Amino acid sequence: MSLKLERFFDEQGRRVDGRAPDELRPVEVKCGVVKRANGSAYVRQGNTKVIVAVYGPRAVIPRHQELPGRALIRCQYQMLPFSTEERKQPAPTRREVEISKVVRDALKATVFTGNYPRTVIDIFIAVVNADAGTRCAAINAASVALADAGIALKDLTSSCAVGKVEGKLILDPCGVEDYYGEADVAIAIMPQSNEITLLQMDGRLTKEEFNKALNIVFEACRKIYVRQREALRERYVRIAEAVRGEERE
Ligand code: CDP
Repeated sequence: MSLKLERFFDEQGRRVDGRAPDELRPVEVKCGVVKRANGSAYVRQGNTKVIVAVYGPRAVIPRHQELPGRALIRCQYQMLPFSTEERKQPAPTRREVEISKVVRDALKATVFTGNYPRTVIDIFIAVVNADAGTRCAAINAASVALADAGIALKDLTSSCAVGKVEGKLILDPCGVEDYYGEADVAIAIMPQSNEITLLQMDGRLTKEEFNKALNIVFEACRKIYVRQREALRERYVRIAEAVRGEERE
């Protein structure tokens, strides 16, 4: 990390990027960004930028991976070589293999896999720019991409992280806060039922801090959920307008 962080807060209690401790980075969600995919989405949370493409449900290759009663869900999370400060080797790292698995599990909980026996749903995640919270942004984008692909879902999945610096909890840490911070908790929820589908923690928090972190992150996930739904709605308005245009021609 080239930027050496001396202080996490200024005199007004603002963070390095000017945010309040419980403030999210600006969240942008776009749906239908990859033409050839069945569903796709782009999510930006501050300087973290992620594109997700979903293919399927489609025939399983290799065939022996087919599941008789439900769909197989495969997920590949990749940080592109130019997405980090130091060039990342293109070959998958242990970290990417782990994140692919936890992201898949966080999303799988919402998919009615029984509706699609003997098929596969492939989720490809490309981190275009990494500035912490990439697994959360990946989940937020992948959930929208699954919905965009028309796959039956119980709910969307919304995700965010909470960190701890100078003994204070901070929502949605950016890169330097994550790097120099004392703890980092990544959480994903299904906002309608409040079920948690991802919970990972680096560092240490007291029980009280953890409960407070949960409250902060649940509220943040609800805000992200609103953005995810808006993106899906915008997409369908665009499709409806295109269809009406074709009918007039
Ligand atoms: O991205 P996320 O917070 O989900 O995962 P992490 O393993 O806690 O990584 C935190 C951040 O470290 C990433 O978002 C990147 O900005 C950075 N990182 C990096 O620059 N190079 C790596 N090989 C791995 C992580």
